[in-house]
Amino acid sequence: MKQQVVTIGLGYIGLPTSALIANNSINVYGVDINENVVNRINEGKIHIVEPSLEGAVSKAVSTGFLKAGLTPIEADVFLIVVPTPFKDKNEPDISYVESATKAVIPFLKKGDLFIIESTSPIGTTEKMASLIFNSRPDLKNSIFIAYCPERVLPGNVMHELVNNDRVIGGLNHESSLKAASFYRQFVLADLHVTNSRTAEMCKLVENSSRDVQIAFANELSIICEKANINVWELISLANKHPRVNILQPGCGVGGHCIAVDPYFIVADYPMESKLIGTAREVNNYKSFWCSEQVKKSIIKFHLEFNRKPIIAIMGLAFKPDIDDLRESPAKYIAQRVMQDSQDEYFYIVEPNIDNHPVYKLTNYNDAIDKADILVFLVAHKEFKNLSISSNKIVLDFCGVVSRN
Ligand SMILES: NC(=O)c1ccc[n+]([C@@H]2O[C@H](COP(=O)([O-])OP(=O)(O)OC[C@H]3O[C@@H](n4cnc5c(N)ncnc54)[C@H](O)[C@@H]3O)[C@@H](O)[C@H]2O)c1
Repeated sequence: MKQQVVTIGLGYIGLPTSALIANNSINVYGVDINENVVNRINEGKIHIVEPSLEGAVSKAVSTGFLKAGLTPIEADVFLIVVPTPFKDKNEPDISYVESATKAVIPFLKKGDLFIIESTSPIGTTEKMASLIFNSRPDLKNSIFIAYCPERVLPGNVMHELVNNDRVIGGLNHESSLKAASFYRQFVLADLHVTNSRTAEMCKLVENSSRDVQIAFANELSIICEKANINVWELISLANKHPRVNILQPGCGVGGHCIAVDPYFIVADYPMESKLIGTAREVNNYKSFWCSEQVKKSIIKFHLEFNRKPIIAIMGLAFKPDIDDLRESPAKYIAQRVMQDSQDEYFYIVEPNIDNHPVYKLTNYNDAIDKADILVFLVAHKEFKNLSISSNKIVLDFCGVVSRN
């Protein structure tokens, strides 16, 4: 009998994954609570921006291997790919994973494989197993349950889904092996088998590791400012040591992964995760510090030239060359500086966005030409190799000017 897969959640991860599996001639039924998403996918179209995804979805739908709906159906494999945001006080919210699990429970049968891909706090897979077995004791020891986190880079998802190594953590060894043989059908890279808790922690640790390393660079940048040392030169020189590799500082850390996932560890292990928690604080503080530097510079200009400066905020995205503003430290800095401004005029520049509902955006050449203070927050490619007149005050928090 032909294999049937059900994916719950058809967003940035669930949809590309569904299309990939379907294009390997496996029947996929994608489920989403958003009716517009379901309708669009059934038309072979997509609702998110991701290179090569539209072609993959359109092919999968036209060959009949991918269909979408609002409620699950019976299947052999269930993949949970719903959001795991955080609630107040930076605590993980696993309610989406819980409701997705509850939705599939009536459809589970002996021999099925249930996999969670959503980034999840440690112990979530065990919790979902209890949820399943409490309402379906008949399934105990007769279904396979595993956790397999996703580590793709937005913008390169279709390639990385196939070519990134995967960590697969089963509730028991049989579940790990069953899940590994499922992924083997469409993943070319290595599959590493472990238990569910280690796999959950692995995903959180990958992003926490980046966060801690960036925090070190950000801390150095604040010390260097006070010590009157060029941090970019310092890091470049320190990195000449064969075993040192310091990352570059920025205006903070943003996005929906690195700025979020470490809290999933800190919330559950506050006493044991001092370094991880402090790194989050350092990176958040860096954004606050940048906004204070801008405010100081505005006051200094006013006192020196006896008029209010024009300020250009260069970049709003959470990292270079993308249009994503989620958890963006640049956006936070822009908001904070403008909130506290005394009628100064601001140009807001974000070359990756044409129109924004809140910010009136300006072309970067115009802003550079007209502003007195240039605040570089994101190292977008457009900001590299600019010719900036020497009478401008430049605050470069991302090294896009100072590193040239
Ligand atoms: N986007 C990334 O780059 C990325 C990378 C690695 C890991 N992750 C993780 O993958 C998971 C999914 O992230 P995403 O970016 O795909 O999220 P997303 O918000 O793009 O998509 C989630 C989809 O799930 C749907 N949904 C929510 N509850 C549902 C339910 N009960 N039943 C059916 N559908 C439901 C939503 O309508 C939405 O379409 C998260 O845990 C995220 O942390 C994301």
